[in-house]
Amino acid sequence: MIKYQNNLVGITPSMLEGFFVKWGSIYPSQQKHFEILQNSAYIVLAVDDEINKVIGFVNAISDKILSVYIPLLEVLPAYKIKGVGIELMKRMMAQLKDFYMIDLCCDDRHIKGYGKFGFIKSNGMIIRNYDKKDGK
Ligand SMILES: CC(C)(COP(=O)(O)OP(=O)(O)OC[C@H]1O[C@@H](n2cnc3c(N)ncnc32)[C@H](O)[C@@H]1OP(=O)(O)O)[C@@H](O)C(=O)NCCC(=O)NCCS
Repeated sequence: MIKYQNNLVGITPSMLEGFFVKWGSIYPSQQKHFEILQNSAYIVLAVDDEINKVIGFVNAISDKILSVYIPLLEVLPAYKIKGVGIELMKRMMAQLKDFYMIDLCCDDRHIKGYGKFGFIKSNGMIIRNYDKKDGK
């Protein structure tokens, strides 16, 4: 059964296996992934309690007054198209409902999906240091 939680209670880095699928050769280690979740203001995890592994997550960083940004959302390939991504976003948006600014960046293919949660298209300016994708 898939269970959802908004915290890291009972979670260890070893339970965070197989993420950052499309990141190529440079991506955060399971320890770095755990630290990303620890340092985030808000998280939602999907845990398969039969195998005791995290199979999906979303995180948000924030000033905790006006603004919040959602950097990462991922569901493991074997669990895709089963509603886990939508459930993660629903639970995250419930936590973020009182913020003025809720921002994220996404590829064109995700515009429709995020639109269902009220997101509208805007302009974003970004920098990506691709050699730093592992967070070291
Ligand atoms: C994007 C991502 C998180 C979606 O996760 P997911 O668990 O597959 O998403 P869901 O199953 O909740 O929803 C995906 C689609 O399947 C549909 N769906 C959900 N359950 C379904 C079911 N039982 N039968 C048929 N369709 C279903 C949803 O309606 C949704 O359709 P939409 O795209 O038109 O909104 C996942 O594909 C992923 O990890 N991608 C790689 C990382 C990434 O791109 N992250 C986003 C960065 S902005």
